[in-house]
Amino acid sequence: MNDFLTIAMPKGRIFEEAVELLRKAGYKLPPEFDDSRKLILDVPEESLRFILAKPMDVATYVEHGVADVGIAGKDVLLEEERDVYELLDLKISACYLAVAGLPNTKMNDVAPRVATKYPNVAEAYFREQGEQVEIIKLNGSIELAPIIGLSDRIVDIVSTGRTMKENGLVEYERIVDVTSRLIVNPVSYRIKDGQIDELVRRLHNVVAVEEF
Ligand code: PRP
Repeated sequence: MNDFLTIAMPKGRIFEEAVELLRKAGYKLPPEFDDSRKLILDVPEESLRFILAKPMDVATYVEHGVADVGIAGKDVLLEEERDVYELLDLKISACYLAVAGLPNTKMNDVAPRVATKYPNVAEAYFREQGEQVEIIKLNGSIELAPIIGLSDRIVDIVSTGRTMKENGLVEYERIVDVTSRLIVNPVSYRIKDGQIDELVRRLHNVVAVEEF
């Protein structure tokens, strides 16, 4: 297994775009990648092993070295601050983090509450704004929080904007743009530098092409 490069991939909506990008970069990924419940997919012809993780966990696998490289959203990297190197902006799965809430509402003066899946990002953002808020950590369906009175605001990902719109929320501030990044474990980068440089080179070629 040692000459295999292990890549941690985010399950869910980023997965398809990441697979498409790898295929464009010339990696022959079997049809299994398009419809499988397996969590480990080996591609011996390319000396690659893929592990399929929750997006929030990709950087954890890479930091601990059980994956050499990974594809992780900038949102996760900002939130988790893992000990990994960011090698390339893959420019896929573009979205952004924003502050949102019910229309025409002010934050509670006394004890403002912000619900989010990103407590560190949210805390840092409101601290920079000079506002002290109570952060309420949720694991999903964040848009529910202001509607049912759990929080004044949310900090969440906006992609198409549909979830906010269909739930009657409006955006108040845009915090930061998010795309997926190629990350690497620092030790793997020393040991498997040839394979990793090759991966970066091939991905860089297709990312650069897409920019024009
Ligand atoms: C994310 C995010 C928003 C939604 C934004 O949730 O938290 O709820 O996508 O996408 P949109 O702007 O295109 O509507 P996700 O689907 O990952 O599920 P979650 O509720 O578990 O966070």
